[in-house]
Amino acid sequence: MKIDIVSVFPEYFEVLNLSLLGKAQSKGLVEVTAHNLRDWTHDVHHSVDDTPVGGGAGMVMKPEVWSECLDELLQLEPAVIENTENIEDSADSFDTGDSCDTADSDTAPSSAGPVLIFPNPSAPLFTQQDATELSHADHLLFGCGRYEGYDARIPQYYRAQGIDVREYSIGDYVLNGGEVAVSVMLEAITRLLPGFMGNAASIVEESYTGDNALLEHRQYTKPAEWRGIKVPDVLLSGNHAKVDRFRRDEALEKTNELRPDLIEALDCAKLDKADRKTLMALGWEVSAAHPRKR
Ligand code: ADE
Repeated sequence: MKIDIVSVFPEYFEVLNLSLLGKAQSKGLVEVTAHNLRDWTHDVHHSVDDTPVGGGAGMVMKPEVWSECLDELLQLEPAVIENTENIEDSADSFDTGDSCDTADSDTAPSSAGPVLIFPNPSAPLFTQQDATELSHADHLLFGCGRYEGYDARIPQYYRAQGIDVREYSIGDYVLNGGEVAVSVMLEAITRLLPGFMGNAASIVEESYTGDNALLEHRQYTKPAEWRGIKVPDVLLSGNHAKVDRFRRDEALEKTNELRPDLIEALDCAKLDKADRKTLMALGWEVSAAHPRKR
């Protein structure tokens, strides 16, 4: 997978040379290049932003600098949009961000070409489903906004050029720029690449993974008793079926307590008898397509 990142702080991404992502780069699984947006400016001040049209606080990133950069990285010729009425703008083309719709959770991005991704606090939430989908792409290009964000015509223009453009928020809070958000998305995506993790099974068992996503059960290691606190007996029993059931019930209980929205999204047809019993004991009705609180 080839990953380009455009930022006014490309040094920020030096951390990507560490840890597992660093190893994945050495192994040739992924090639990450961070570019400085200011390299595509022509003025003495290397300016990338300007005041907002229509007034307001802060500065907005200029489309001309971004387009020179993105055209080069996407190998596109500059074009002029003749009829702007029929092209999607970013708001229309946002997906619903519905992380519970897992029907096509493991499909490739809509086009086989590069995927252009802009972190944006006013976009749909980035989910595990998006990470899975993007892990199948050959080329990801992240554009980090700063200040009050980037000119809205940038994603609009590249969509009109047939590029798969995504805008994602990583959470309901505002950061100073897209760099942290890109690091988060990049880690979530690249760790899903085959050969990236030492133990592929650990991905399968994680929270937010699979059809019927639940929060993960608690984990313990040795010693069996530490500072007076014992690990649950069943985990020491050696009875794998019992251990699996205990963990599954714990995942259901934890999800019920912390993320009931994930319980509501479960597909009842995929729950086994014991799951249903646990959910019913937690106050859920499980006879319809999805659980409903009684
Ligand atoms: N830029 C600033 N805040 C952000 C957020 N929460 N998610 C993505 N990009 C951002």
